[in-house]
Amino acid sequence: DDEEEKFLTQECKELLLSLPRQKGWRTPYLYEFQGFWCQPKEIQAILSFQNHFISQESDVILATIPKSGTTWLKGLVFSIMNRKRFDVIDSKAHPLLHSNPHDLVPFFDQIPDLSKLPDPRLFATHIPFNSLMLQESIKNASPKIVYLCRNPLDTFISSWHFVNNLRPKSLPPFEIEEAFKMYCDGIIGFGPFWKHMLGYWNESLKHPNGVLLLKYEEMREDTVSNLKELAKFLGCPFSVEEEKEGVIKEIAKLCSFDKMKNLEVNKSGKSIKNFENKHLFRKGEVGDWVNYLSPSMVEQLSQIMEEKLDGSGLTF
Ligand code: A3P
Repeated sequence: DDEEEKFLTQECKELLLSLPRQKGWRTPYLYEFQGFWCQPKEIQAILSFQNHFISQESDVILATIPKSGTTWLKGLVFSIMNRKRFDVIDSKAHPLLHSNPHDLVPFFDQIPDLSKLPDPRLFATHIPFNSLMLQESIKNASPKIVYLCRNPLDTFISSWHFVNNLRPKSLPPFEIEEAFKMYCDGIIGFGPFWKHMLGYWNESLKHPNGVLLLKYEEMREDTVSNLKELAKFLGCPFSVEEEKEGVIKEIAKLCSFDKMKNLEVNKSGKSIKNFENKHLFRKGEVGDWVNYLSPSMVEQLSQIMEEKLDGSGLTF
């Protein structure tokens, strides 16, 4: 607790005292801030972002709830947007072969050095839609937002594995039953998951030119069609020649799970987030939850999904 709070500003420490809190997954507590459960350092980053960030109309923002394919989406959109600078057909010099996507596409809540970013700027975030819109310049500039979501059953399993992998070996494992209860109660980083998804989903319905919602499962099923839609949405559609040359397929291949997982940088490197990249690549499968969840857990979570997403049109 002390260790974590050492880096917080006085303003943030005072704010934390006024917020509801619950036991966290990775940190002692998660705090309910602007309607979502966040770690203290995330709240500080959101505050700083809301106060200081200056958005440009040409910005592209990749939004996700953690463990729904952020790393993959970063790789794909980086490759699409930079395909004139970095050839994907003759890809020997492609940055994704020696950098993790997190080193190429910053989370803007981590306040990167903006001067280093080429135009159009590409950012990622886990910040919920409502909190993004509390940022004046984003509201005015309305940059393009791509939201990737994933079946909550798989996102839960992915999150649970991830937290256990990062947990110091001196601590007992984080039991699946405990994690599951927290997840169902909405208590997970940037949760409740349904509220996170609905924020972006509803906006994508209202402003389809501003927010594109993609699903992990559909991206796995048909990566090429999704990449075409993505490129079109981003204002840099693939030409007929590019498609003929195989550019779209090469991007899908370059960013595929097996390719990325087996790169040296992702086997042994550390990304800017200061943890080992290998933890970002586990199985990359659709439906791995069947191997971990009991029938009653599946029933419970499915019911929550049905209830919370009811009438929204968002289904998994
Ligand atoms: P699993 O734990 O189910 O394997 P995030 O990047 O948001 O942290 O999400 C992590 C999840 O995405 C993990 O899921 C991880 O294996 C999967 N993933 C990472 N890279 C991927 C890729 N290139 N293609 C598909 N899935 C990928």
